[in-house]
Amino acid sequence: MKFFIDTANLDDIAEAQALGVLDGVTTNPSLMAKEGITGESNIIAHYKKICELVEGDVSAEVISTDFEGMVREGEALAALNPQIVVKLPLIADGIKACKYFSDKGIKTNVTLVFSAGQALLAAKAGATYVSPFIGRLDDISTDGLNLIAEIRQIYDNYGFQTQILAASVRHTMHVIDCAKLGSDVMTGPLSAIKGLLKHPLTDIGLAKFLEDYKKGNS
Ligand code: E4P
Repeated sequence: MKFFIDTANLDDIAEAQALGVLDGVTTNPSLMAKEGITGESNIIAHYKKICELVEGDVSAEVISTDFEGMVREGEALAALNPQIVVKLPLIADGIKACKYFSDKGIKTNVTLVFSAGQALLAAKAGATYVSPFIGRLDDISTDGLNLIAEIRQIYDNYGFQTQILAASVRHTMHVIDCAKLGSDVMTGPLSAIKGLLKHPLTDIGLAKFLEDYKKGNS
């Protein structure tokens, strides 16, 4: 399973990249605003910085909600760097734009996906990635992980090449459960990635190994 980090924070991206397990980055307008990145030229410059920090795919979301606007924005974003993946909302014009970009060989990430039917449409439109938001479903007492399982089954039934990108991941168990269900990618905060490191028996075991080494070498 690929690990993407879901942030526009350059320090977090650099830390995840330095760990050696990072495959890409996802951003959205809220994450950019959280870092204080506003205005078209600053946003473009920020995407360029992110692409310099990582080797993998970097999702950049369009703001337009009409086909022509999405195509204009998406083409400008895709021209920034081959790493850029044009992120499109799952609305009718987003699906049309997805088909347009996939026909042109431009990578896409269809976002704001909350149902298996939406994921089927994204795959039919040739999306590179589909982003089911599991955390936001959990927030409204709906099983987000079940959506991953449903999409996996549908995509496998028909051999769709669209990669399932589990989004809105909040914690380590989401990461582990997505891996068990065969999600192709997960995107989450740095805490969900670093949380996978933790086990008290690792810490206790390491302390004992070092203590025994000291005893034998003093
Ligand atoms: C990523 O592509 C999504 O925009 C993001 O995972 C949404 O996460 P949130 O539900 O924590 O805002």
